[in-house]
Amino acid sequence: MDFTGKIAIITGGGSGIGRATALKFAGLHAAVAIVDINEENGNHVVNEIRELGAEALFIKTDISNFDQTQAMAEEVHKRFGTIDVLVNNAAWDRIEPFMNNDPALWDGLINVNLKGPIYVTRAVLEFMVKQEAGGSIVNVASDAAKVGSTGEAVYSATKGGVYAFTKSLAREMARYHIRVNSICPGPTQTPFFEAVMGDMPKVVESIKKAIPMRRVALPEDQASAIVWLASDEAAYITGQALSVNGGLNMC
Ligand SMILES: NC(=O)c1ccc[n+]([C@@H]2O[C@H](COP(=O)([O-])OP(=O)(O)OC[C@H]3O[C@@H](n4cnc5c(N)ncnc54)[C@H](O)[C@@H]3O)[C@@H](O)[C@H]2O)c1
Repeated sequence: MDFTGKIAIITGGGSGIGRATALKFAGLHAAVAIVDINEENGNHVVNEIRELGAEALFIKTDISNFDQTQAMAEEVHKRFGTIDVLVNNAAWDRIEPFMNNDPALWDGLINVNLKGPIYVTRAVLEFMVKQEAGGSIVNVASDAAKVGSTGEAVYSATKGGVYAFTKSLAREMARYHIRVNSICPGPTQTPFFEAVMGDMPKVVESIKKAIPMRRVALPEDQASAIVWLASDEAAYITGQALSVNGGLNMC
C-alpha cells in the first residue's frame, strides 16, 4: 500500500486508534491532517508524523460544531489542494446504566458520536465530490452497534447510526467513485478504554477470557483495517462494516 500524494483527514487523531491510524498513513507516505479537540495531543502527533518524514497539520476542531467542521475542510483543501481520505474516528463514552442517565449525556453522545461524523462528512464531501478524483471514507463505529453493550445504550445507538449512515451514503457516493465503509472495533487498549474500564480490572479480565484471541485489540490492529479499507487494495469494497474484534461476537 502506498499513499504518496494522498491527503488523509483523521478526526480524533490525537489519541488511541486515531493516532495509530495517522502514524500508519504517514508511514505509507500520506500527508495527514489531525483533527481533534485536544490541542496538546494533536500537536504531539503532528510532531511524531514529521519525525517520520511525512507532512502533517493539526486543526483544532470540535466535530459537533458544523461551522468548525466546514472551516476545517476548507483549511485542509486550501493547504493541500485535495482531500483523498477521511477517517471519522473521534467519539467519547461514559459507561452507566441507562436508568441513571441524565438526558444531557444523551445529547452529548449524539452530538459528538453521530452528528459529528455527519457534519465532518458533509464538509469534506463538498470538496471530495467536486474534485472528481474519487476518495474513501472510513467511519469508526463499534461492535456495540451490532450486538449491543450493557451500560452503553445511547453510545451503542450513536454507533448504530454511524453503521447505517455508512451503508446508505455508500450507495449515494458510488457514482462519484467515493467508497464509504466502517470498522466495528471490539475492546481496544486506548486511553478511552482505560478511562472507561480503569477501575474495573475484573471486567477487563472477563472480556479477555471471552475473546477467542485472548487479548484486547491494540490501536494498531484497528489502524491496519482502516488503512486497508481506505487503500486501493479495497477498491471494490463499499458499504461494509468490518468487525475487528479477535473473534468476539463473531459478527
Ligand atoms: N477503545 C475501544 O475499546 C473502542 C471500542 C469500540 C469502538 N471504539 C471507537 O474507536 C474510536 C476511537 O476511540 P479511542 O479508543 O481511540 O478513543 P480516545 O479517547 O483514545 O481518542 C478519541 C479522540 O477523539 C477526540 N475527540 C473527542 N471528542 C471530540 C470532538 N468533539 N471533536 C474532536 N475530537 C474529539 C479526543 O480528544 C481523542 O483524541 C471511537 O469512535 C470509539 O467509539 C473504541
